[in-house]
Amino acid sequence: MAQFWVEGGTQLFGTLRVHGSKNAALPILAATLIANGPVCLLNCPRLRDVENMVSILVELGCKAQWDGDTLRVDSSSANSYTLSEPLSKELRSSIFLLGSVLGRFKKAIATYPGGCEIGNRPIDLHLKGLRRLGARIKEDGGYISCDGDDLVGTSVPLDYPSVGATENIMLLACSCIGETVIHNAAREPEIVDLQNFLIACGFRVCGAGSSTVVIEGGKSDRGCTYSIMPDRIVAGTYLTACAIAGGEITLTGAVSEHLVTVVEKLQDAGAYIRQEGSRMMIRAPHRPNELQRLETLPYPGFPTDMQPQFFALCSVASGISVLVENVFENRFRHAQELQKMGGKNSLRGTTAIVRGVPKLHGASVIAHDLRGGAALVLAALSAEGTTIIDCAERIDRGYVHLEDALKSVGAYVERKE
Ligand code: UD1
Repeated sequence: MAQFWVEGGTQLFGTLRVHGSKNAALPILAATLIANGPVCLLNCPRLRDVENMVSILVELGCKAQWDGDTLRVDSSSANSYTLSEPLSKELRSSIFLLGSVLGRFKKAIATYPGGCEIGNRPIDLHLKGLRRLGARIKEDGGYISCDGDDLVGTSVPLDYPSVGATENIMLLACSCIGETVIHNAAREPEIVDLQNFLIACGFRVCGAGSSTVVIEGGKSDRGCTYSIMPDRIVAGTYLTACAIAGGEITLTGAVSEHLVTVVEKLQDAGAYIRQEGSRMMIRAPHRPNELQRLETLPYPGFPTDMQPQFFALCSVASGISVLVENVFENRFRHAQELQKMGGKNSLRGTTAIVRGVPKLHGASVIAHDLRGGAALVLAALSAEGTTIIDCAERIDRGYVHLEDALKSVGAYVERKE
């Protein structure tokens, strides 16, 4: 178990580099299984979820080797279609492997991913999509077994633009005969990154970033060297950290087009933001303004993965803010922890009313989930006194040494094991 000890009250000044995106790396790692040649991934964040995904690939018989944030994967020796229970339970995204394992071996056996701290997270849309492509799927006693001897592309309408389901269906569609058209596809930038990776491996995919993704099934004829996109949630977290703590920081390696709604809300809160190419500069407001209404939505709407950090921001804003969480039903567990720090908020279903206070104070709090944990670190930066954040290993799932990044711009954050 890890803890973060944060001494509040220092402003942030300096430059931060944004690391590679976890949510882009995970489906791309799943895709290495169907690449016909060795793959070299640059800017690959060495996070626990990513390492778990790599361990699963190794269990399936792939070879993998890290060198800093470069990861080489050779899937030519893969020889198993069974995803072992312990690792798949750890990592919800192992579900992406269903599409690529099934495509490669015409069979796949997986464990049903467990519930999750931010909500139920069903996989019905994934299974429905895979079935439409001809997969025969049996669910029995927590196991999912899939057979796919006659995988044929077709039109796949999604009831909801699920990110994971879109990616999983894209991966299986690559190994189908003929064309697949995904309607109401998710439009997240990570899906564009997956498409670009697949194209680099010789697959024919287009439309990612819009609601219609078209995949012409066929074989990959090569591996590739590919640089993973920067993590837009890490970038958003750093910007919000500065808006809360005060000061002025510059991000390098961020893609500002991915952050339009986040930047807009930070500006509403009073921050000054300047963007030049891949550099983004933020100057914090004296005290954040309240946000009249912040509502999470699928991309290009405001990301649910930034809602907790903005909850922290609104906790010290100068008025009352309303936050509506539309994507995951149980994503307000940071609310009660912020109350321990003096935050004033009340919840009604998927709506939170947050009454800003001039100052939070240090307390002993728990990171219940990845982004909620990051939100507590951000709140602690401006709080009076010391905040101890338990279960900080959950924060490590999405940030490569968040404490070192924040320390490098002047914050007092210590990790204690
Ligand atoms: C991905 C991201 C996660 C982000 C989320 C929304 C990864 C590894 N994770 O998660 O960080 O918060 O997108 O941007 O990329 N749903 C169903 N049935 C399904 C699948 C999803 O009902 O089969 C529902 C979910 O319960 C949720 C909503 O759809 O309410 C969105 O989920 P989805 O877009 O699939 O998110 P993930 O891919 O799990």
